[in-house]
Amino acid sequence: MLITGSSQGLGKALAFECAKRGLSLVLAARRKEILDEMAHSLRETYQVDVHTIAVDLSKPEGVDTLWQWCKREQLWPDILINNAGRGLFGCFEHQSEMDIHHLLYLNIEALTLLCHRFGPKMQQGIIVNVSSLVGMIPTPYFSVYSATKSYVLHFSRALFREWKHKGITVICLLPGYMRTGFDTGAGIGNERYLKISASLGLEVEKVASYVLPRILKRKPIIYASSGNSFLAFLLGLVPAGWRSGIAKLFLKPFAEQNP
Ligand SMILES: NC(=O)c1ccc[n+]([C@@H]2O[C@H](COP(=O)([O-])OP(=O)(O)OC[C@H]3O[C@@H](n4cnc5c(N)ncnc54)[C@H](OP(=O)(O)O)[C@@H]3O)[C@@H](O)[C@H]2O)c1
Repeated sequence: MLITGSSQGLGKALAFECAKRGLSLVLAARRKEILDEMAHSLRETYQVDVHTIAVDLSKPEGVDTLWQWCKREQLWPDILINNAGRGLFGCFEHQSEMDIHHLLYLNIEALTLLCHRFGPKMQQGIIVNVSSLVGMIPTPYFSVYSATKSYVLHFSRALFREWKHKGITVICLLPGYMRTGFDTGAGIGNERYLKISASLGLEVEKVASYVLPRILKRKPIIYASSGNSFLAFLLGLVPAGWRSGIAKLFLKPFAEQNP
């Protein structure tokens, strides 16, 4: 199993959950020392095979670096979890072009190209693309991020249909708030927002133990908890314009105060 963005947060929790089940792992992220420490601990605790690779998937050469490494090591994953992703919060006009570019590359382009490279090599494989409940909401102040996650949702659903007959299952995972480094990475500095996000956020260990059995059962759409499933159901009942308007009411004060 190959998990991108596995040095912390959801990716790390999924790595531990998979190792518990005896699945061998390839861990990919930018911070190699952290991955190596994790690999050591996973090998010691669960006696599984773990490999690590440092790769920056927001750079155009990132996908090829990962691909060439797998080719050299002859490690072809039968499960790929496209988890690496970042957020970008604030008024759109104040976001830097560099941040926007990295976000689009990491959340969309790298994920798409990894499916394109690894999918056809799989036999009866599984690809999990991590989207977000925000992908169901055109979200002001998270405008580019929410659009990338909407892309991930639509792309994954389409590819699920396209590849179903080949035996490759493409799954879309849509988590809601989770307690991770996501907010910091998205540039959110407002203390009140961080408190709300932490109080609503699910523990990633719980998310990982909830979603992994569903991944292995090849469910095409997976939410992070039963509460998140219900929220997604409710979102589906509300017109997109309303979803967007409600999100604006909630986020505007934080965006205007964001340092
Ligand atoms: N937390 C939430 O509330 C939430 C909600 C819905 C969806 N999600 C989605 O869940 C996924 C996991 O996020 P998280 O919450 O666990 O966030 P996180 O704690 O910030 O973890 C992000 C992971 O991605 C890696 N990463 C970041 N940029 C990278 C790059 N350029 N190249 C390679 N790896 C990179 C990071 O490792 P390095 O820094 O070592 O590279 C880290 O392991 C993301 O796709 C996110 O959009 C999160």
